[in-house]
Amino acid sequence: VSAAGARVFTLGIQAGETAFKPGPATRTWGVNGSYLGPTIRARRGEQVELAVHNGLDQETSLHWHGMHLPAAMDGGPHQPIAPGATWEPRWAVDQRAATLWYHPHVHGETADHTYRGLTGLFVIDDEDAEALNLPSTYGVDDVPMIVQDRAFDGDNQFTERIPLAGSLGVIGDEILVNGTLGPYFDVTTRLVRLRLLNASNARPYNFGFSDERTFSLIASDGGLLAGPWETDRLYLSPGERAEIVVAFEPGESIELRSYPSPEYGGALSGRLDGFEDRLDICRFRAADTLSDDAELPAALADAPDLAGATVAAERSFSLAANKINGLSMEMDRIDFGVREGTVEVWEVVNDNGYLHNFHVHDVQFQVLTVDGEQPPPHLSGWKDTVLLVPDRRYRLALHFTDHTDPDMPYMFHCHLLQHEDDGMMGQFVVL
Ligand code: C2O
Ligand code: CU
Ligand code: CU
Repeated sequence: VSAAGARVFTLGIQAGETAFKPGPATRTWGVNGSYLGPTIRARRGEQVELAVHNGLDQETSLHWHGMHLPAAMDGGPHQPIAPGATWEPRWAVDQRAATLWYHPHVHGETADHTYRGLTGLFVIDDEDAEALNLPSTYGVDDVPMIVQDRAFDGDNQFTERIPLAGSLGVIGDEILVNGTLGPYFDVTTRLVRLRLLNASNARPYNFGFSDERTFSLIASDGGLLAGPWETDRLYLSPGERAEIVVAFEPGESIELRSYPSPEYGGALSGRLDGFEDRLDICRFRAADTLSDDAELPAALADAPDLAGATVAAERSFSLAANKINGLSMEMDRIDFGVREGTVEVWEVVNDNGYLHNFHVHDVQFQVLTVDGEQPPPHLSGWKDTVLLVPDRRYRLALHFTDHTDPDMPYMFHCHLLQHEDDGMMGQFVVL
């Protein structure tokens, strides 16, 4: 029975075949199709109800990454869906407009299941964001871009070959955007908003345009920034999202690329891990006349406000060698409990020099400081996943507002999926 006025979504996880390139089709998994899944969209305040059917011959799950919701609805390792079964999570959407996403989260299988194609966007809308007149016509000037790297073998099948001396997991040499190789987008408006998702298992992207033009970052994982930030590069590690607004000139054609990343280039493992790669992501071809209705206001949203809050507890997290604080994930070990209604400060550090990031379920957090300094503009808004530059200390403020459940944990982990599967994950409960 559905609650009156609830927004109901029916999702079917299935195996299929996808023709990415000439020759044999690629065996893939998808949601309501053979590869990737539909964009789910709901409004703040709405009740959502999903029926997720697992049509595979093995257990999997779907996790709503970035969503504030009860732990039992989270789709993490404790909510597996048996083959042939249907899981029916429901919750009230209670967070700002944001670009969230979904992917499997079965412990030890997240990298494999995600790589096969179980990924989609979950977009939250609200009145505050709609009042802004930002580009917002889906597929026209508000364009989702699910960016993934894949390695194909000689039969056009995905390979999950991990470089022997690499540190991150599978690194592919071909780029898919929304499941398309060699993609282009026909621009019909002066301003275009791109909702970028790094949906790769391991590869970070250092986005920029072929003519070095600047663009405006308007939103991070948890929603709009206080104001646009103009930049010519944007670095996104796996799991992170960003919304950017790009201005186009009539008739032009430019490429969105990923550029080598200065932070990690140079070392042997940096080369194998793809930090030196320059990749074409998507070509943008502007029409000879562009309509011009949307705008980019100077003020977008309230800035995160947890800096002055009373702190109920401080915790530290050291990530190294597939462990967090020396511990490997175990399904029946809960690492700690946080108190409902309190703000905590978590200090997180990448202690082994390889690329890691840090993702927390249930909450959007504020980055208070990085090595004692104010965070850079791209970390000034709400985040649920943050890149950990080696040896820097990230202080995060997290507000656990509700959804107590002493028995059902939320996860925190590195979002390089092989690291997560290998144990770089822990669990907490809200009490
Ligand atoms: Cu996107 Cu725990 O995951
Ligand atoms: Cu998540
Ligand atoms: Cu990691």
